[in-house]
Amino acid sequence: MDTVSSHSDSSTSGDLSELLKEATKEVHEQAENTEFMRNFQKGLVSLHEFKMVMSSLYFVYEALEAEIERNKDNPVFSPIYFPLELHRKDALEQDLEYFYGPQWRKKIPCPQSTKNYVTRLHHVGQKEPELLVAHAYTRYLGDLSGGQVLKKIAQKALQLPVTGEGLAFFTFDNVSSATKFKQLYRSRMNSIEMNVAAKNRILNEAKTAFLLNVKVMTQD
Ligand code: HEM
Repeated sequence: MDTVSSHSDSSTSGDLSELLKEATKEVHEQAENTEFMRNFQKGLVSLHEFKMVMSSLYFVYEALEAEIERNKDNPVFSPIYFPLELHRKDALEQDLEYFYGPQWRKKIPCPQSTKNYVTRLHHVGQKEPELLVAHAYTRYLGDLSGGQVLKKIAQKALQLPVTGEGLAFFTFDNVSSATKFKQLYRSRMNSIEMNVAAKNRILNEAKTAFLLNVKVMTQD
């Protein structure tokens, strides 16, 4: 007999990791093609722009990681709780101190688009924690995927020291193989128990997460 899955709705059957990749394909293209990212890939990034985006990312990770901590024992999130390997807030603090000096916290800008993203993260963490996986996926798997290439580009374009100062965000000291870690992360995401409705809400939230990132990069 034919498999049931080949006849069921492809948007909800299958592993969450596969569904997330498929559901976010289009918004990923949108994210790659923002002016900021296109320029960045060509090494056309100014120190000013770079500092703006790093500042926004600080607020994003501060909120994301606070909500992750809140939900670290919640079974809707606990399988993908990897603070030592993934968390970026401390790394961003080091980078911002390098760029802005000891008073960095008072100096970093937080545009409206970043505030909107932060608000969504707190809403999700506090009211709909089953959607937090979508936000963690969007940021951490993205960072593990493009990070090393972007690090080299930034280093060259901004003439940052090869010792890595200003680039801690791109450095995952506790991940020896990004490819293997991503595989582990995907299998842990796939182990989270959820019904079809929750799965669909997660897929939608991942698209929202990408669009919030696009807005942070375009600052609108
Ligand atoms: C210049 C911009 C970007 C480039 C060139 C880029 C490139 C890539 C590449 C090549 C992969 C696949 C890696 C692999 O399969 O091993 C990937 C995966 C990914 N990227 Fe990006 N990316 C960019 C921007 C972004 C942004 C802005 C986000 C979200 C904020 C993002 C989120 C992701 C995610 C979540 C994955 C994992 C997909 C999966 O395996 O399920 N990317 N990216």
